[in-house]
Amino acid sequence: MTRPGFVRFDEVSVRYGEGAGAVLALERADLAFAQGDFVCIVGPSGCGKTTMLQTLAGFLRPTGGTVSLDGRPVEGPAPERGVVFQQPTLFPWMTVAANAGFGPRMRGENRAQARERVEYWLRTTGLWEFRDRYPYELSGGMQQRLAIARALCNEPKVLLMDEPFGALDALTREHMQEELHAVWRRTGMTVVFITHSVEEAVYLGTEVVVMSPRPGRILERIPLPFAREAADQDIRRVKSGAGFIAARERVLSLIWGMQHDA
Ligand SMILES: Nc1ncnc2c1ncn2[C@@H]1O[C@H](COP(=O)(O)OP(=O)(O)O)[C@@H](O)[C@H]1O
Ligand SMILES: [Mg+2]
Repeated sequence: MTRPGFVRFDEVSVRYGEGAGAVLALERADLAFAQGDFVCIVGPSGCGKTTMLQTLAGFLRPTGGTVSLDGRPVEGPAPERGVVFQQPTLFPWMTVAANAGFGPRMRGENRAQARERVEYWLRTTGLWEFRDRYPYELSGGMQQRLAIARALCNEPKVLLMDEPFGALDALTREHMQEELHAVWRRTGMTVVFITHSVEEAVYLGTEVVVMSPRPGRILERIPLPFAREAADQDIRRVKSGAGFIAARERVLSLIWGMQHDA
């Protein structure tokens, strides 16, 4: 079922610090989108992307406004909101399977069910045969896949990703994009994805949200048909299509415009 406003930011402001040194990182940001959307947020460094994601994650309380998910205000971190950072934050002393199953285990969930879900997500992310290894034995891309699998084992209502592929080499990154895209298509989950790469945003997203800095605001929303069309299309064809190129140029011109104004 698709509900508009599954995720809502209502006039969300965030101020860091007090007095003359205070930074208004986000000013009355309004954004709402539906369940199943894949929302990519782009914008110059320091425009408040991470701040915005942290308010939805529940790590940061806004100074003004409200953030809500599925009709309920966000009041702190919860497993219904899975978070993946640029650097995978894994437990080095736990095996791959133990890392993936950490959330369900902590909540004391039914063991057989939790094991089944761990197996499902480790298979889906291509890590099942590495289940008894430790994070240091994995490549950077595999570690990041494990961080994603771990978040998905909690069956989140929304997956929040802050430049998750930013630290990977170009080939691994493309591969991870395709994998994430396939998981999204298969599950229909809701994703909020921050990236510096306009190409990545236009390829993955059902919509690109462009933010402007100082103070951080939503500048423009660009709807994209490609993510849903790509299911049965060759991605190279999608990326060389006129619609894809026009959307990418629109996002790039907005970002260039901001840099010249700065
Ligand atoms: N903990 C903090 N204390 C003070 N200022 C911060 C803090 N975190 C972020 N900022 C400032 O808020 C603004 C937005 O930061 P951030 O959300 O990290 O931007 P982005 O992720 O788009 O690069 C920046 O000017 C940054 O310096
Ligand atoms: Mg950031």
